[in-house]
Amino acid sequence: GAQPVPPPIEDTSMKLVNDAAHPWMPLLPGQQRGPCPGLNTLASHGWLPRSGVATPAQIVTAVQNGLNMEYRRALEVTYAAFLVNGNPLTNLLSIGGLSRLTGSAPPTPALASGLSTHGTFEGDASMTRSDAALGDNHSFNETLFQQIVDISNKVGGGKYNASAAAEVRFQRFQDSVMRNPGFFFSTPRFDTAFIETVFPIVFFVDGRSTDASLDLHVMRDFFQNSRMPPDFHRRGTPSSGSGPEEDMVMNAHDYVPGFNNGSGTCVFLPPPASSSHLVAVNSFVADPNFMGTQTDVLCSLYEKFVNTTRELYPSPQGDLRVALNKNLDNFFIPVSSRCAQIFPFP
Ligand code: HEM
Ligand code: MG
Repeated sequence: GAQPVPPPIEDTSMKLVNDAAHPWMPLLPGQQRGPCPGLNTLASHGWLPRSGVATPAQIVTAVQNGLNMEYRRALEVTYAAFLVNGNPLTNLLSIGGLSRLTGSAPPTPALASGLSTHGTFEGDASMTRSDAALGDNHSFNETLFQQIVDISNKVGGGKYNASAAAEVRFQRFQDSVMRNPGFFFSTPRFDTAFIETVFPIVFFVDGRSTDASLDLHVMRDFFQNSRMPPDFHRRGTPSSGSGPEEDMVMNAHDYVPGFNNGSGTCVFLPPPASSSHLVAVNSFVADPNFMGTQTDVLCSLYEKFVNTTRELYPSPQGDLRVALNKNLDNFFIPVSSRCAQIFPFP
């Protein structure tokens, strides 16, 4: 069954987090890792269960303790993910793929299949993971990482900074427009894709550094090996990740939320040079419904995850319904000052 949200952590100061109690350990068979280098790294250092299967409360506490993510952002992201990819009956979520450790699943169409599940939280145009339609959406991809290296060398002076993030985001967007016929880049993905590129600068740079740029070897270790540098200190103030860097990445190029619709007309890019392209690629159009019924971006994201939960659980009964409602209440807590609560299972 569901649990209440954990309290915020008390000590949010800078501190050593790759410490004796949290050594990196290599992956054992059956342990889950997935599309998120933040959670993968926390699991490989034992801030989360090394199995990669955890309760939402464990995740909320671990992202604060291990990387100093702000409490409200931790609640928002974790309960969104838990509602669409977690198992409400056992209160467990896999940070990777489907795992026996999450217990027996609720009836379909519920997924309860972990963060690697495409299309509910995980989405297209990721930094180091392929689009699901084009390959593996959860494993580190060396080709994509080399593109980050190249861009960082060109515009970041050899490091990954906000300027590099802006160009990485645009390159990944363009690549998906041109190669993924089913490319989807509207809510929730439109909201997560920009901040995701800033997270490495905010959370993977050592707290003792005043430099808002990330060494590429350190970046690789987090993204590929789920590993913190020796002596790694978390940042000295909690952060949501939002701020001037995210705005910079969003405003560096023209974006609208939307998707490839197969029409063959694209609002951004010239027609494909080669006729070997599938007809459905390069057909990006704006999504007229990306805000749902909301006017505030945060509330539209909230509404989207609630509506997805409703689709995954058409008529939940008994303990399942109680657990879903508790987790929906938990998900509402971080947005309660801005949004109206939605009750899909009254
Ligand atoms: C993706 C960092 C917390 C779920 C990512 C990516 C980064 C990142 C950098 C992009 C990876 C890539 O595109 O190659 C972090 C950090 C966190 C954090 C530093 C905490 C401080 C969380 C939490 C959840 C989560 C709490 C949910 C419980 C995801 C998912 C993706 C992702 C599902 C895949 C999205 C996609 O690219 O398709 N994260 N994350 N993350 N993260 Fe996290
Ligand atoms: Mg992805």
